[in-house]
Amino acid sequence: MVSTPPTVRPHKGKLLVLTPGMGAVATTFIAGVEAVRRGNARPIGSLTQMQTIRIGPRSENKAPLIKDFLPLAQLEDLEFAGWDVYPDDAYDAAARAKVLERHDLEPLADFLHTVKPMPAAFDPEYVKRLNGPNVKPTKSKRELAEALRQDIRDSLARTGADRAVMVWCGSTEIYLRPGACHANIETFEAGLDANDPAIAPSQLYAYAAIMEGVPYANGAPNLSADSPALEQLAELKGVPIAGKDFKTGQTLMKTILAPGLKARMIGIDGWFSTNILGNRDGEILDDPESFKAKEVTKSGVLDILQADLYPELYGNLYHKVRINYYPPRGDAKEGWDNIDIRGWLGYPMQIKVDFLCRDSILAAPIVLDLALFMDLAGRAGMKGVQEWLSFYFKGPHVEPGHVQEHDLFIQHMRLKNTLRWLGGEAPLTHLPEDLSEV
Ligand SMILES: NC(=O)c1ccc[n+]([C@@H]2O[C@H](COP(=O)([O-])OP(=O)(O)OC[C@H]3O[C@@H](n4cnc5c(N)ncnc54)[C@H](O)[C@@H]3O)[C@@H](O)[C@H]2O)c1
Repeated sequence: MVSTPPTVRPHKGKLLVLTPGMGAVATTFIAGVEAVRRGNARPIGSLTQMQTIRIGPRSENKAPLIKDFLPLAQLEDLEFAGWDVYPDDAYDAAARAKVLERHDLEPLADFLHTVKPMPAAFDPEYVKRLNGPNVKPTKSKRELAEALRQDIRDSLARTGADRAVMVWCGSTEIYLRPGACHANIETFEAGLDANDPAIAPSQLYAYAAIMEGVPYANGAPNLSADSPALEQLAELKGVPIAGKDFKTGQTLMKTILAPGLKARMIGIDGWFSTNILGNRDGEILDDPESFKAKEVTKSGVLDILQADLYPELYGNLYHKVRINYYPPRGDAKEGWDNIDIRGWLGYPMQIKVDFLCRDSILAAPIVLDLALFMDLAGRAGMKGVQEWLSFYFKGPHVEPGHVQEHDLFIQHMRLKNTLRWLGGEAPLTHLPEDLSEV
């Protein structure tokens, strides 16, 4: 039985997209939106801009664009603001990141120079290979959180935006597990007052966003909003939250290939993934403590194979993930996968993948989609963890007790059925009513 769809508050005025972190991903996103708005480029990779959604029986042949089916904010309505440890504006940061070519950036320079980062709530204890000057003076964690809340209010006032969403595009912090202070809202707030070391800066941004009623999505593997305390706060304040870690290059390929191999009942003995990248993200992930956080989200995805149900096929799978910082490559990462598979009568075969990808080119449309879908969720009164957005993440943030879904195709079906539900249409089940129309 499908529940009644919520009433979605219409979008009016401007939507402010706040990005803690204005590095490669955030600036590729901001510059890309502006390039599309000016008619200079196409938003390839974005479901909100390019994908259609089938509604009704197949015989009716109705497949509007998602952006025409649902009341999403328009690109023209987006405003941008962010924080960074470095004072570079979006133009200088994009030029330094070297993702976009000069000839694409130059025509946008006037606009990009206007997006300047606010001083960050930052502590090098949590990101070891980073130390920039644009940081808020060290105060208690409580004061830093309050300063971020004030930044959100000031940015809304300055841009004249009606509402905001926040997408974490900052660095990967050291690996942290939820501690005693994350048990509930009271212990978390006591932790803020006591400067508890278990509270990293990304949690301060998440807390500030939720307190200000701003939907929060986390593009890094950081704990951030993924704790009972902030889940409860999001429920209480009626704010949607989602995470963690944008699903881009190698992991995207993995969650495309693994479900296909499993669907054909092909066995897998080993999956070795290694990659080289030379951007600042790569430099930070060279620190073992930050890599540990990444390793957890990257390694979990082969749960797709359900080794408990298919021990004969996947029970002894050896899965290894490596990230190597290699400066000459910049953002143009190269990822290699060697997959040892087994077929009929146990005969071994191998698959080799060499993916020459551009990380931030794959991540930017995810930031856009998350911003628009999280805003939609907020206007629909959807609060707490938004599992239907798992499609975009390596390590989907799920409600306590729920199992993460990593299969890209199941994630995609869930995303689109949620959109159908939000638009008052029946989900696509492929049950006889659907099939009779095929
Ligand atoms: N590029 C991808 O495809 C991809 C995929 C998945 C996840 N991610 C994650 O997205 C994040 C951004 O990636 P990127 O390539 O843009 O990295 P980047 O290093 O270019 O940018 C991150 C920026 O965050 C800033 N920062 C760090 N801590 C901050 C804080 N507390 N407050 C404000 N700013 C802070 C840094 O100064 C830096 O400029 C990383 O965590 C990365 O792991 C990226």
